[in-house]
Formats: sequence, C-alpha cells, structure tokens
Amino acid sequence: MAKQLTADLDSLPLRARTPRTWAEQVLAGDRLALLNDHAHLEKKAASNALELLHRWPEPVPPENWVKAMTTVARDEVEHLALVTRMISRRGGRLTKNHRNPYANDLRQLVRLGEGTIELMDRLMISALIEARSCERFALLAEVCVDDGGLRKLYDSLWASEHGHYRIFIDLAEQVVAARVVNERWREMLDAEARIIETQMAGPRMHSWPESNSSEGSSLESR
Ligand SMILES: [Fe+2]
Ligand SMILES: [Fe+2]
Repeated sequence: MAKQLTADLDSLPLRARTPRTWAEQVLAGDRLALLNDHAHLEKKAASNALELLHRWPEPVPPENWVKAMTTVARDEVEHLALVTRMISRRGGRLTKNHRNPYANDLRQLVRLGEGTIELMDRLMISALIEARSCERFALLAEVCVDDGGLRKLYDSLWASEHGHYRIFIDLAEQVVAARVVNERWREMLDAEARIIETQMAGPRMHSWPESNSSEGSSLESR
C-alpha cells in the first residue's frame, strides 16, 4: 500500500479496515452498478443533511448548525451531479430504486424518542457513513489504475467526505456533553465495524468482499 494512502486511512477513526480486495473486486465487476449505488448514496446524504437541518434542539440551533447542514447538502448535490454525469457519459442510467442494507443496519442504533440523545445518534450515523465512504474512495482511487476519469472522481471525493465526518461529530458536541459524545462514539465505531464486516459482497460502496484478505480487518484499538 502506498505510503500516502496509509497516512490518509490512518487519519480515519474506523475500527475495521476494508481489505484492498474489496476495491479490486468491485472494480473488476459492474462499474456502472457501482456508480449507480454511489449516486443514490450522494442523494441520500443530501436529503439527510436537509432532514437534519430542522432537527436542531429547541429553542435555537447551535452555532453553525444551519450553515453546516446547508454546506453538506450542497456538497452532496454537487457529488450527485458529478456521479450521474459520469453514469450517463458511460451509457448508463440512474435507477429509480435503491437498497442500502448497511445504512439500514446502522439506523437500528438510533435511540428513538430520546430527545438530544436521539439527535446525537443520528449525527453519529451520518459521521460513520461519511468516514466509511471516505475510506472506500481512498481505496478505489488507489486501486483504479486503468481508468483516469474514475480515479480522479474518487480522489476528489475523498477530501470532501473527510471534512464531512468531522462536521457531524462537532455538531454532536454542541448538542450533548463531550464526555457523553466520546463514549457513544466509541460504541458506535465498534458497532459500525461489526456491521460493515457482515455486509454482502456486490457492486456497492458499502459492501464487503467475498472472502476476507489477511491485509484488512478489525483493528483492536485505534
Ligand atoms: Fe458525498
Ligand atoms: Fe459527504
């Protein structure tokens, strides 16, 4: 693995590292299907930021809340435009329906009806998805040596998503005490590691490879 990539991935808090074989497998498969899944994720990330926009704790939003959510939503719509342009340039078309079992599994962790605790959980799920996507973009950019257009896309998205995961954690710290956020964040990172490793293989941004490589996998204390 390239030295720069190692440094990039080490800057993420994730507790299960995706094996390089994941990127090799999805790039060897249906790239249009991978881009289609990716486009839907960008759309959902934009909707999620807009949904969170009005979920601030009463009576007034924490400082930066509205700005942060609108910034993320705008970025995600830009990503969506980039990905859908690439799909149509390659002769594909965005599908109407999309399944995202990884995000659905993560959503089970949200403690509904718990006020600011629910809000903190929602912000953390968003942060986890951003961080995992970020890791996947870095791997794809590294492995995709035969397609300059795709490589450039993944490279550019890495930086943007890296900023996003921090935004959500920073907002969580404005809603609930930092000690509570830190404790819950550790639990969430452990849960995410279990969830990502049980995903099915396939041409999706949040799938898991067919058989685990010795290179990837759970890291005890990161
Ligand atoms: Fe995005
Ligand atoms: Fe994002």
